[in-house]
Amino acid sequence: QCLVKNVCCIGAGYVGGPTAAMIALQNPQIMVTVVDKDPARIRKWNTKHLPIHEPGLHDIIRIVRDGSRESPFINERMHFASRNHEPLSIPARSPNLIFSTEVSRSISEADVILIAVNTPTKRRGLGAGSATDVTALEAVSREVAIHAKAGAIIVEKSTVPCRTADTIKTILHAHRPDVDFEILSNPEFLAEGTAMKDLLLPDRVIIGSSPTASGKRSAAALSSVYESWIPRSRIVTMNTWSAELSKLVANAILAQRISSINSISAICEATGADIDEVATGIGLDPRIGSKFLGAGVGFGGSCFKKDILSLTYLAESLGLPEVGDYWQQVLDINEWQRERFTRRIVRSFNGTLVGKKLTILGYAFKKDTQDTRESPSLECIKFLLEEVPSEIAIYDPCCNPATVTEELRRSIGAHVLKENGGPMEVYEDAYRACEGSHGVVIMTDADEFKTSPTPSLSKTTRETAIQDPRPFPHPEPTESEIFALQRYLSGTLAAHDPLERFVDEPECESGCVECEREGKRND
Ligand code: NAI
Repeated sequence: QCLVKNVCCIGAGYVGGPTAAMIALQNPQIMVTVVDKDPARIRKWNTKHLPIHEPGLHDIIRIVRDGSRESPFINERMHFASRNHEPLSIPARSPNLIFSTEVSRSISEADVILIAVNTPTKRRGLGAGSATDVTALEAVSREVAIHAKAGAIIVEKSTVPCRTADTIKTILHAHRPDVDFEILSNPEFLAEGTAMKDLLLPDRVIIGSSPTASGKRSAAALSSVYESWIPRSRIVTMNTWSAELSKLVANAILAQRISSINSISAICEATGADIDEVATGIGLDPRIGSKFLGAGVGFGGSCFKKDILSLTYLAESLGLPEVGDYWQQVLDINEWQRERFTRRIVRSFNGTLVGKKLTILGYAFKKDTQDTRESPSLECIKFLLEEVPSEIAIYDPCCNPATVTEELRRSIGAHVLKENGGPMEVYEDAYRACEGSHGVVIMTDADEFKTSPTPSLSKTTRETAIQDPRPFPHPEPTESEIFALQRYLSGTLAAHDPLERFVDEPECESGCVECEREGKRND
């Protein structure tokens, strides 16, 4: 039985938002509050245009944030629709997910506090370029120390270096020596683009705790929240340090597979072997498995690189430089592969891009997300700009053109934008982006790129369409997983009327770019 009544999640990002939404959906009796120090982000979570794009997220947010009401009209319709003509009762659901900037208040009310703040690579000072920057985590720990009620369970959801729970404990103890807080490690394994499916059907949930009776009680309390929808057999308990390290190692090994297959792709290109055939040949061995064996332009995103850097830093600081060097190679191959790919683009245009237009399809670091952190596209674009093309057009189905333009301005400089006489232009439409292009570079395996008939894309291009790299490798959900997800979501949604099941969606602030785009489309 779940005794947790109130959960506070600190950090309304790619992990905090979706995780809190799933916990709220599966536990209508728990009040979940997501807090963030960034008011703009919280404002977006409270409108219909959420700050992050994840398939399925919007539907779930509407149920848990806005609630649903009973409607006699719906009852009547459902009555006629039901096979045995029994009237169906449609439960109304109260909202149980709140997005707020009131960090301290929410902390003070919580039984469980999830810390899901960013832990990027340190940019300056000791360990710059590889150690983890735990500034946000420290700041949050101080807030928790001051405001949390005695007995509140503190949970690390952020990915952190091994033994970070000790740091949090020290901070808590310094402010509240009279209270013994339990710190759990509950790393998140969701992947962007499939976050809701991953949260709904996780392979495993890891909960690390201290081995004391109180530690185990806290782990059981957190476990009870997950047990609302996850079989007990998939919830694995272990010691705190193992849990913290498991997350770093999981990402390092996934990235290692990508670098391994990419290194072999270079041998294939030089010998006439086919990398897809090799991947199939080895992936059928159950000891190897077929996932994460698609060769491509290399991995991007906010996690793989920073987590490997964190692991190498940890190894070096433990006096294990050989271990650090081993994992560093995974990053080196990744960079080399990306450079190899961009060099190949230039070579396929006779070594010069002067006077030529290239179109980049896919700007986010992979499909079904608008997250552009550590995007291979951006690195590729920087390289191509050196070749002075007449235009580089960008299109991504999930990215807001205004946001991408702003990012180009920030990361490369305003001078590269078309509006300032530069070659870069971001489009809202793939076909327009491809018009008059000499080459189309497909950077992600977005469904739109797979299903758009290539002839009509390339009809508008004057020369070759470059379709390498092959799709960015990430595990595809199996048919049965997709079916389970759809059945689950439609089961939940079936209890609500498809047209009137929600209260009206909150309006966005005036000047919202998405609203303007929708307005234009409706004109
Ligand atoms: P994010 O950058 O999208 O979100 C973090 C949020 O924390 C931001 O909105 C920020 O404003 C907020 N924050 C920072 N300091 C705060 C403070 N003092 N008080 C209140 N809010 C504060 O980060 P993301 O991607 O959600 O990652 C969070 C953690 O989860 C990281 O440790 C990451 O490594 C880990 N992770 C990320 C995954 C991903 O796919 N993005 C997957 C699994 C783990």
